[in-house]
Amino acid sequence: GHQKPKGARGLRFTPVAPNTADVVTVPEGYDQNVVIRWGEPILRGAPAFDPENQTAEAQAGQFGYNVDFLALLPLKGERGRQLLVANHEYTDEVLMFRGYDADNPTREQVEIGWAAHGLGVVVVEEDRRSGKLTPVTRHHLNRRLTATSEFRLTGPVAGSDLVKTSADPTGRKVLGTLNNCAGGTTPWGTTLHGEENFNQYFAHSSRATDKRYGIGTGATERKWERFDKRFDLAQEPNEAHRFGYVVELDPYDPDSVPRKRTALGRFKHEGATVRLTHDGRPVVYSGDDERFDYLYKFVGSKRMRHGNSRSAREHNLTLLDEGTLYVARITGDSPAIEIDGTGKLPKDGEFDGGGQWIPLATATAKGAVSHVDGMTAEEVFVFTRLAGDKVGATKMDRPEDVEPNPVTGKVYVALTNNSNRGVGSNPKADEANPRNANKHGHVLELTERWNRPESTKFAWSLFLVAGDPKDPATYFAGFPKDSVSPISCPDNVAFDDHGNLWISTDGAALGSHDGLFGVATRGDRRGELKQFLTVPKGAETCGPIVQDRRVLVAVQHPGEVDGASVENPGSTWPDGPGTYPRPAVVAVWRTDGRDIGV
Ligand code: FEO
Ligand code: CA
Ligand code: CA
Ligand code: CA
Repeated sequence: GHQKPKGARGLRFTPVAPNTADVVTVPEGYDQNVVIRWGEPILRGAPAFDPENQTAEAQAGQFGYNVDFLALLPLKGERGRQLLVANHEYTDEVLMFRGYDADNPTREQVEIGWAAHGLGVVVVEEDRRSGKLTPVTRHHLNRRLTATSEFRLTGPVAGSDLVKTSADPTGRKVLGTLNNCAGGTTPWGTTLHGEENFNQYFAHSSRATDKRYGIGTGATERKWERFDKRFDLAQEPNEAHRFGYVVELDPYDPDSVPRKRTALGRFKHEGATVRLTHDGRPVVYSGDDERFDYLYKFVGSKRMRHGNSRSAREHNLTLLDEGTLYVARITGDSPAIEIDGTGKLPKDGEFDGGGQWIPLATATAKGAVSHVDGMTAEEVFVFTRLAGDKVGATKMDRPEDVEPNPVTGKVYVALTNNSNRGVGSNPKADEANPRNANKHGHVLELTERWNRPESTKFAWSLFLVAGDPKDPATYFAGFPKDSVSPISCPDNVAFDDHGNLWISTDGAALGSHDGLFGVATRGDRRGELKQFLTVPKGAETCGPIVQDRRVLVAVQHPGEVDGASVENPGSTWPDGPGTYPRPAVVAVWRTDGRDIGV
């Protein structure tokens, strides 16, 4: 008969083997459905998906492209329903338009791209007899925000000369949000969305500060600057200063204008996860996804108010505008050596050490104060990378998602990879980034002093060094490596109610497609990593959300392989041969109706 799989509570499933099937593969005894796909109508009046005759107007009422972050929020008074919030990070025009000419995109194609970016809110309903979720179209809370919707800048940068443009002399009103990658939900019922690779949308820069953010001096690949001059920095030099923030959305109020919270700094934000101090102030962790960039933390100065009164909600919508932004300096406590699997270890026998949160600037109701010599507070919040450079922050291997474990308080930092580590004149391996030419990435575990979120000191240790477990330079928190799943390029992270860490991957370099993995963080199975699913060809695994009875992932950019086009896509998921590949959200549940992994 079928033997019950072993594992830590919440992780008792038979691992999915690495594979390259063009489907979502789930463990034995589990089932799945596609919750919603790119192009499905969600707003009143939006037409059905018709990719051969797509229009910007249609797209603005339909589910957007490439989903990264996902949130599921409770919906009171509507049984079996939840509110799904999604980031539409970016678009793949070659997979959206038949015969796409990258040198000469049409205005309609560009405007469809604008409408397919941004955020999506859609009510989903569960099937009573399974874990299946389906969208509730035309629900009054359903919403799309795009590259042309109105957003407001709040906090220390709002109204600054650095963010004024000819279209917005107030420096407070921005059109659009771009490249929203990871995110978070707040304890006061809003969602946070990190603007990541915003550099790619801006052309013709001539400033050194732009260069530090990867903004180029030439035309962009997307050519948006031909259709709206705000993407041409030669004409609107400050427009790029209005992107690269954490956006806060109140998904329960379909008329609310989302805010860009400038007190959290400007960089390639990977998510924003909130926890509260003992006295109720928000602390937000965020990574800057670039090789040799930094890890940040914001500590708010105002306390959250409980309850759902209008005044409490209004108060809580100001929490992220006042507080101090910090950057991490991480030090090993032994002479740095490279992890190489020969058993060679730092002097104290462990890759671990201490660290400091270095204050960069403080925002208050009366104004902002810089803690960085030679930079004003406004400059720190707009040119945050340069502030990190000045204070000697630690150069990391692409900090992706950063999340505290709600059960233990320990903070997990996914460092996705850095093939340039130790190459040429680049920084070499150190204790916290212990592998040169780091192809597969690693995960750090941080413990704030006294386990207080607001502490300015922390301890850290290596939790996971990704790769093929047969590679001696891998490490799975000390767990025996003969029974763990291979993993490469950790990206987004999440926790289940048992305190297990769930890791989705992007760019897996081990010959298998990307996937979702669960790993125990405590007990005698700590470090036992198990693969829960794999995604179709060319896709990265995003989301993820792990509820008691359901796992949700976003399958981002299926079919995105070299040379792919509509005529010759790398994948035909989810609709099959002869169709456009479609980024989509997938739900997974147990066919016997019991909780995940118990
Ligand atoms: Fe959008 Fe850093 O992943
Ligand atoms: Ca050490
Ligand atoms: Ca990410
Ligand atoms: Ca990613």
